[in-house]
Amino acid sequence: MNQLRVHGGSPLSGEITVRGAKNFVSKAMVAALLGEEPSELRNIPDISDVNVVSGLLKLHGVIVERDVQGGVIRLDPRNVESAHKADIDTHAGSSRIPILLCGPLVHRLGEAFIPDLGGCRIGDRPIDYHLGILRQFGAQVDKLDTGILITAPRGLHGTKVELPYPSVGATEQLLLTAVRAQGLTELRNAAIEPEIMDLIAVLQRMGAIISVDTDRTIRVEGVDRLGGFTHTALPDRIEAASWASAALATRGDVYVRGARQADMMTFLNTFRKVGGAFDIDDGGIRFRHPGTDLNSIVLETDVHPGFMTDWQQPLVVALTQAAGLSIVHETVYEKRFGFTDALVRMGATIQVYRECLGGLQCRFGQRNFLHSAVVSGPTPLRAADIEVPDLRGGFSHLIAALAAEGTSRVRGIGLINRGYENFTAKLEALGAKVETD
Ligand code: EPZ
Repeated sequence: MNQLRVHGGSPLSGEITVRGAKNFVSKAMVAALLGEEPSELRNIPDISDVNVVSGLLKLHGVIVERDVQGGVIRLDPRNVESAHKADIDTHAGSSRIPILLCGPLVHRLGEAFIPDLGGCRIGDRPIDYHLGILRQFGAQVDKLDTGILITAPRGLHGTKVELPYPSVGATEQLLLTAVRAQGLTELRNAAIEPEIMDLIAVLQRMGAIISVDTDRTIRVEGVDRLGGFTHTALPDRIEAASWASAALATRGDVYVRGARQADMMTFLNTFRKVGGAFDIDDGGIRFRHPGTDLNSIVLETDVHPGFMTDWQQPLVVALTQAAGLSIVHETVYEKRFGFTDALVRMGATIQVYRECLGGLQCRFGQRNFLHSAVVSGPTPLRAADIEVPDLRGGFSHLIAALAAEGTSRVRGIGLINRGYENFTAKLEALGAKVETD
């Protein structure tokens, strides 16, 4: 199943459920490796990123039991052992999660071999912050022909770090290393995304001592031993917002069971400014097209509590249906507008610019990155043959195909499984006419 035929032009309508957040679940699974007792994680989605992390943990002797339907995963790390480099290498290019195994593996085994990383090509996505943090803890980093080897001949020691940018992954790297390092660690300019707060909750359940200040400072007191945890993953706010954008772009009405207001405040404000309607209850959020014209907006992506970069791509498709000029300034990734080429082929009017438009100067200003977009609408979309470029861009293409008149062919949809569980079944439940080839 790698190609989807989408017969577009009808509104999505009905109910779907989102389960645990991809960008939390994989990290919580890594955290289980730090414990000396088994852990249980609930609300696990059936996505391929979970399989990648399960595979890596199993290679290191973790016993993984999974109830896919029930969304429960049990991880027993009591017999952690070193894995063969060749086996680890088979995971090269599959995800960015392996870099987060460094601290836990060094604590448990004295060394960590990390394969070359994968993940979406939406920018250079360097790991300099990660390696700098590990070195500050006292780790030695050796680059090998494939991957990197991390060792800590004199152990890992608490340290003071200030991030140049509040990176999600680097903050997680620090947390997963500091909890068992000797002494105190302080991180300034930390990322404070809800997924990170949930990771901190998991680590606290395991026995860690972590405080978070309002000025983005995280302090960790290292402990000698961590136990296991039982935890229910927070819902996937990126998937929820993707379905919300799909409802808007197709003039539909979708109830997203599991969506949680608290994690989506900024998205909901923007959705309302575009003209989208929503109703919130204890079980989820219903997202609706208002039946009248949508409004153009000025939008800037940012770290939490700003508008997430991962919400940008799906919403841009809805903005092609809004009246007037929308300006979108992407400040988290330098190359996250590649997906707009396909939208333009489908009839959208989108121009991308090197300049920082509509907001403050960001890290990518005065450089060669097309990181601002002007979307002029509304423009009817027409069907096309599309190749999925990355996870969120791919889902956005699906939304465009659903909104477009005619039959589109979307190739490479396997990539979308990384972050959207059972998306073809969910599309069918919402009345979409899709066929896998
Ligand atoms: C996480 O990526 C998510 N991935 C991303 O989701 C998400 O877009 C991103 O956080 C921001 O919210 C996972 O959780 C697996 P960063 P991460 O470190 O941790 C630069 C999705 O579609 N940077 O916060 O890799 C980096 O290049 C994915 O679900 C460095 O320069 O993101 C980027 O410009 C895509 N050096 C910025 O920081 C480093 O060492 C933010 O990246 C690390 C990062």
